[in-house]
Amino acid sequence: MAIQYQPEKRIFTLITKHTTYQMQVDAFGFLLHLYYGKRIAGDLDYLLPYYDRGFSGSPSDAENNRTYSLDVLPQEYPVLGVGDYRNSALILRDADGCECCDLRYVRYEMKKGKYGLTALPAVFASDHEAETLEIVLEDAVNKVQVRLLYGVLAKEDIITRSAVIINKGSREVVVEKAASACLDFLSGDYDLISFYGRHTMERNLQRTQIAHGSFSIGSRRGTSSHQYNPAVILAKKDTTDETGGCYGMMFVYSGNFSFEAEKDQFGQTRAIMGLAREQFHYPLKKNEKIVVPETVLCYSDKGFSGLSKIYHRCIREHICRGKYVKTKRPLLLNSWEAAYFNIDGDTICRLAKDAADLNLDMIVMDDGWFGKREDDNSGLGDWHFNEQKMGCTLQELTDKVNKLGVKFGIWIEPEMVSEDSDLYREHPDWVLCFPGRKAVRCRNQLVLDFSREDVRKLIFERICSLLDQGNIAYVKWDMNRSIADVYSGENAPGKVTYDYMLGVYDFLEKLIKRYPEILIEGCSGGGGRFDAGMLYYTPQIWCSDNTDAADRLRIQYGTSFFYPASTIGAHVSAAPNHQTGRNISLHTRGIVAMAGTFGYELDPGLLSEEEKEEIREQAGRYRQYEDLIREGMYYRLSDPFEAPYAAWMFVSEDRDTALCSIVILENHSNPPIHYVKLRGLDKDAVYEDKESGKRYYGSALMEAGLPMPLVKEDYPAWQMIFTRVTGI
Ligand code: GLA
Repeated sequence: MAIQYQPEKRIFTLITKHTTYQMQVDAFGFLLHLYYGKRIAGDLDYLLPYYDRGFSGSPSDAENNRTYSLDVLPQEYPVLGVGDYRNSALILRDADGCECCDLRYVRYEMKKGKYGLTALPAVFASDHEAETLEIVLEDAVNKVQVRLLYGVLAKEDIITRSAVIINKGSREVVVEKAASACLDFLSGDYDLISFYGRHTMERNLQRTQIAHGSFSIGSRRGTSSHQYNPAVILAKKDTTDETGGCYGMMFVYSGNFSFEAEKDQFGQTRAIMGLAREQFHYPLKKNEKIVVPETVLCYSDKGFSGLSKIYHRCIREHICRGKYVKTKRPLLLNSWEAAYFNIDGDTICRLAKDAADLNLDMIVMDDGWFGKREDDNSGLGDWHFNEQKMGCTLQELTDKVNKLGVKFGIWIEPEMVSEDSDLYREHPDWVLCFPGRKAVRCRNQLVLDFSREDVRKLIFERICSLLDQGNIAYVKWDMNRSIADVYSGENAPGKVTYDYMLGVYDFLEKLIKRYPEILIEGCSGGGGRFDAGMLYYTPQIWCSDNTDAADRLRIQYGTSFFYPASTIGAHVSAAPNHQTGRNISLHTRGIVAMAGTFGYELDPGLLSEEEKEEIREQAGRYRQYEDLIREGMYYRLSDPFEAPYAAWMFVSEDRDTALCSIVILENHSNPPIHYVKLRGLDKDAVYEDKESGKRYYGSALMEAGLPMPLVKEDYPAWQMIFTRVTGI
């Protein structure tokens, strides 16, 4: 049993293969957190501190016992207004305007299988893979109920948490803040690893000490954002990529979020993951509820790579859905960096011909094919194929492309509208906009109110009528701005950001149900909505609008901590690179893009015969190793923000095959030799380097490393295949 309950002490224990999570309902009915970490045995209530602490009050039912204070005790779901002055998981305003909610234990329920969440993405698992614990807490005065949900995937070392807040009282309450997970640590110093960035430079790693005070990251942009990713790690001071203890908290949500880490007056650490507080005031009438998106928790004592391994598996096996998750993905040629808006039917057919000639599977017709769309100032919302510009119908185009031997993919941006569009002229009231004000423009586009069903319905119909017109195998779903004007004509303003996200998810769910054969790739100006929520609908996401191989190494490094290569869209683009002007060899660009779902983003018409031949070879190589890249164990071999080289490898589950990639980042005269140490191999096995035929013991490759040759070139790269052989 992964979930155990001891009625005498009212202790709940969640047990996974390597971890233990324990909590207790105390004498007053508060749900206290006892422990989360490496698997241990016994009751851990002895850990709790009871001392009279000045200015830390006690609930009235503790009577004269001044040693009992929620300000000191670790809790599962701390609430503002009951004497805990630290960050709270829930802030509730009642009909009298009081910000208070006193949650006490009511009952629990255990079930086989993993709970699901209405209208939200969540980890899924079969009945024999998971168990669910639901603990119900209630406020006796306002009758607000909180159902805490715990999903335990024992074999995967995963614990998920969500909360459902229901108003059982007769008067309206407003949820002002809601989190799904709180982790309280009684002792220890922790570092916080978070991933910050900007458009075209996402997910840089930051490691900071969690000091006294409160540190927070999050998004108020309506998307999970380029700026902060909704997944963080809390690590012990000495934890490295290879060793040490660390906790992961990954939010399965694509909208506004908030993560807070706090060290309190007694050196205790609290970490909270949930919805952002800004522009969120969720009113609940009698019997209404809000479901707080799920946080996926995990503890590893094997460093960050141990944590990554668990999250990669969890995302691949328990979050991503659809027929493409475990199958080969099409190698594609995307028209964006090849031609930008300058496309017509002939350009697409020419690119399709090139794609076929280059041994690729698909042409993706990116932006520029619909409505009036010569640049990014107009046309969004008019999802009609522009036959005049394109010189054919969509059906004719897809037929021609298919006849050339490749599949056809299309770009859409359903959530957006241009002011210069028929849709906006017909429905100017369909955009998010504060009354009496002009909406904030971003890329000259406005945001459709996807919290409204009528808006979604019309866009859905338009998208479906488009997808029904030809043989479309792939859709790139884009979202190219942050949301600013959080106001909907129909909905209470404080509900908009959350309901907008539910609307997007509803749309996506309907789309994948109706078109199970279509592969959908997520995108938001590259990686502005790269999160586990989107991955529930789109098994791959365009990682960044930055295709420069040197920058991509760092972006993909940061992305790799939580997200597996199977989810990371990575393409080879032209040199000099369109974002940075850097000139990196096609060889190196190919190796870097092979750390994700592979493709090209350039005009093959501008390539030499030699380069085309190299691309054919790259495509062949990717096909040969794509199963390993998609499903193998991923190891970071260096930190490209610090080290003079970037290196990573994929190892098959049986450790028979490994694909190792290395890019030298710094080139100096007469430089030192770099010895790259491999990981994840069988130390006693002998491996052969496919190209050189040289044989090495796994232990030698991992402990002594491989010397990298000296070459006079910028960003030289190597990709090596090692296979297990019988003798040296
Ligand atoms: C975004 C995407 C790009 C491209 C453009 C088209 O920026 O990330 O890949 O599709 O939109 O406008």
